[in-house]
Amino acid sequence: MSEATGPAALTGGAPAPSPAPPPAAAGPSAPAAPPAGPPPPAAGSPAEGTALPPAPAPGPSGPPVAVTGAEGFIGSHLVERLVAAGHRVRAMVQYNSFSSFGWLETLPAEVTDQVEVVLGDVRDPGSVHGLAAGAGAVYHLAALIAIPYSYRAPHSYVETNVTGTLNVLEAVRHLEIPRLVHTSTSETYGTARTVPITEDHPINTQSPYAASKAGGDRLADSYHASFGTPVVTLRPFNTFGPRQSMRAVIPTVIGQAAAGRREISLGDLRPTRDFLYAEDTAAAFLAVGTAPAADVVGRTFNAGTGREISVGDLVLLIAKLMDAELRPVEDGQRARPAESEVMRLVCDASRLRAATGWVPAHTLEEGLERTIDFFRDPANLARYKTDRYNV
Ligand SMILES: NC(=O)c1ccc[n+]([C@@H]2O[C@H](COP(=O)([O-])OP(=O)(O)OC[C@H]3O[C@@H](n4cnc5c(N)ncnc54)[C@H](O)[C@@H]3O)[C@@H](O)[C@H]2O)c1
Repeated sequence: MSEATGPAALTGGAPAPSPAPPPAAAGPSAPAAPPAGPPPPAAGSPAEGTALPPAPAPGPSGPPVAVTGAEGFIGSHLVERLVAAGHRVRAMVQYNSFSSFGWLETLPAEVTDQVEVVLGDVRDPGSVHGLAAGAGAVYHLAALIAIPYSYRAPHSYVETNVTGTLNVLEAVRHLEIPRLVHTSTSETYGTARTVPITEDHPINTQSPYAASKAGGDRLADSYHASFGTPVVTLRPFNTFGPRQSMRAVIPTVIGQAAAGRREISLGDLRPTRDFLYAEDTAAAFLAVGTAPAADVVGRTFNAGTGREISVGDLVLLIAKLMDAELRPVEDGQRARPAESEVMRLVCDASRLRAATGWVPAHTLEEGLERTIDFFRDPANLARYKTDRYNV
C-alpha cells in the first residue's frame, strides 16, 4: 500500500497532508495520480444507444479506480473485490492525526500492493478532484452513517453526505470520468408502505442521516439529468459482516456475546430488516460499476436479499449459531424516537438482477457464521468497545 504524498496526487487541491509512517505491507507502488485533465480514453467502444462508454477494463495498464470511504467497513470489502477483479485502487482515506488507514491496514499484502492511499476529505473539493483525476471509475462510499449520531451532529451529515457528494459529482463531471457509482441506503425509504420495496417506493426520510443520503441521491439524479454525468446509484439494504462497527445491530449482538455477555443490550426488538452480507454488497458495487452504460447509468438499484427478519428473531438466530443462551434486553438509550424508527425494510432487487445478473451468494446464516468467526478472534474483538453503547 503506497501513500500519495506529492502535489501531483492532489492536483488543484490543498497541499497533501503529512506522510504516514511506512506502510506495513510495502510493495510495488502504484504510480501517483496523473495531473488533472481529461481522463485517458476508456477501453472498449461506447455501449450501443448511448454516448457513454463502459467503465474501463481492469488491468495493470488501465487507469486506477478511485474509492471514497475505502478504509471503512463496506469500502474495505469493495477494495478487496476490486483488486481481485484486477483493478488498481486509489483509495481515499479520511485525513486523521493518527495516520490510520482504517481497515485497509488489515488487508493482505497481495491486496494492499495494488492500493494507493490518498489522505483527504470529501468535504474538500480539491481533495476529491485529486482523487478522481485520471481514474477509470469512482466509487463514492464516504459518508457519516450512524443514525443516532445524526441526531446530535446533523450539520456534519449535510457537509459530508450532501456537500461531499456534490464535490464528487463536480469532479466526475469536470474530469469526464466515465463512471461514478454513488451509494444510497435503504433508510431513504423509511418504513415500508409496500413490500418488497422496489426503487419506485416513495422516499420518506425519518432521520437526519436518511435525509442527508437522500439529498446526495437527488444531486446524483440531477447531475445525470442536467449534465449527462454517468452516475449509477446503488441502494444497499442493511449490510453486515466482518469489520462492521458496533453501531450496527449484528456486530452489537455478536460482539457482546463474543465478549462473554449473555444479556445483550439493544434498542427496539420489533423492526425488521433485510440483511445483505458485505461481500455480496461489494459484488453489487462491481456489477453496477462495470455493466454497460446503457444498462445502468442514470438509474438507481436496490441491493438486498428479499429475506426479512426482526431484530428479536435475529438475536435468537445468532444465539443458535453461537450455541449460547442470549437474552436481549431493551435499553432505552439505544432506541430511536418512535417516529424516527424505520419499522420494516425488505428489498426487491429484481431491477439489479435483470440489469447485471447480480444475486447474493451468501445466505444470512452463512454470513453470520463468518461474522461470528471474525468476532471470536481475540485480535479482532480487541479492536471493539463491547462494554459500551457505540453511537
Ligand atoms: N452499513 C450499512 O448497512 C449500509 C447500508 C446502506 C448503505 N450504506 C452506505 O455505504 C457506505 C459505507 O458505509 P459503511 O457501513 O462502510 O460505513 P463506515 O463508517 O465504515 O464507512 C464510511 C467511511 O466514510 C469515511 N468518511 C466519513 N467522512 C468522511 C469525509 N468527510 N471524507 C472522507 N471520508 C469520510 C469514513 O472514514 C469511513 O471510512 C455509506 O455511504 C453508507 O451510507 C451502508
